Amino acid sequence: MTLSHRSVTVKVPATTANLGPGFDTLGLALSLYDELTVTERDEPGATVEVIGVGAGEVPTDETNLVVRAIAHTFAAYGQPLPGLNLVARNSIPHGRGLGSSGAAIVSGIMAAKGLLDGIVEIDSNALLALATELEGHPDNVAPALFGGLTIAWTTDAGPQHKKLIVHRGVSPLIAVPEGTMSTELARSLRPLSVPHEDAIFNVSRSALLIAALIQSPELLLAATEDRLHQSYRASAMPETDSLITELRDEGLAAVISGAGPSILVLCSDPAQRLIAAETVARHRGTPWQSLLLAVDFKGATVISHPVEISS
Ligand code: HSE
Repeated sequence: MTLSHRSVTVKVPATTANLGPGFDTLGLALSLYDELTVTERDEPGATVEVIGVGAGEVPTDETNLVVRAIAHTFAAYGQPLPGLNLVARNSIPHGRGLGSSGAAIVSGIMAAKGLLDGIVEIDSNALLALATELEGHPDNVAPALFGGLTIAWTTDAGPQHKKLIVHRGVSPLIAVPEGTMSTELARSLRPLSVPHEDAIFNVSRSALLIAALIQSPELLLAATEDRLHQSYRASAMPETDSLITELRDEGLAAVISGAGPSILVLCSDPAQRLIAAETVARHRGTPWQSLLLAVDFKGATVISHPVEISS
């Protein structure tokens, strides 16, 4: 008898959310990836081997976020969950505002989609809905799923997204500090309400930011101003605040990446990005690692490879 166990490999990009004024709305996929292989097995339950970021830190049983995302997807479609062996090769730093939890969730959902291929169809709206249910907001999981620059919004019918292609001059730099920041803590620092003029301020900058990112990168500095979240979070990450001030004083479009504490600098061209990298290297205080990344245009990808076991 020959038993066939399905096996899939998923590659998911890091993401940066908010991009300054686009709180819980805008996201950008970046060329830094987590890779996950999931193989069905006869025994129930799940094992997780983590290589790279998170090894020895994240749970390796059914409580693992990737396993929970796979189980959530199978349950959503009424499918029995098979036994699973997972191997996660992670490069996205954890707790730094680079979408690592969103990437874990998207990895699990896309792996489940691959394992259920031919059994159930899961379209892109359903993928975004499943991922947003687990993540709580759509701005990281949308670019992790679909790549590029995404605008995400929620409706009574669930989260929606629009993917846009970024101007080819736009050159992102991510500055990563040693310390981490809890997204939960960062979210708790937001005020319950904001002045109307601050809301108008962010509406104008968010609209301008779309134009800057797809057409007019020279507008990035003005377009990345924000009054909805960054100043409220600054006291929880003073080093981030201080480096952002220094970069912006030099005319560079620096913002908190997601909930922080990393910094995203949206440079208008590769030459400006080298200037940003020099400023980060010169900055006094805690050391920062500069990542010069490309925009990822593909989003999550899945490769299926059936494993034949003879007995
Ligand atoms: N929009 C989210 C926030 C991204 O800033 O809290 C982090 O998950």
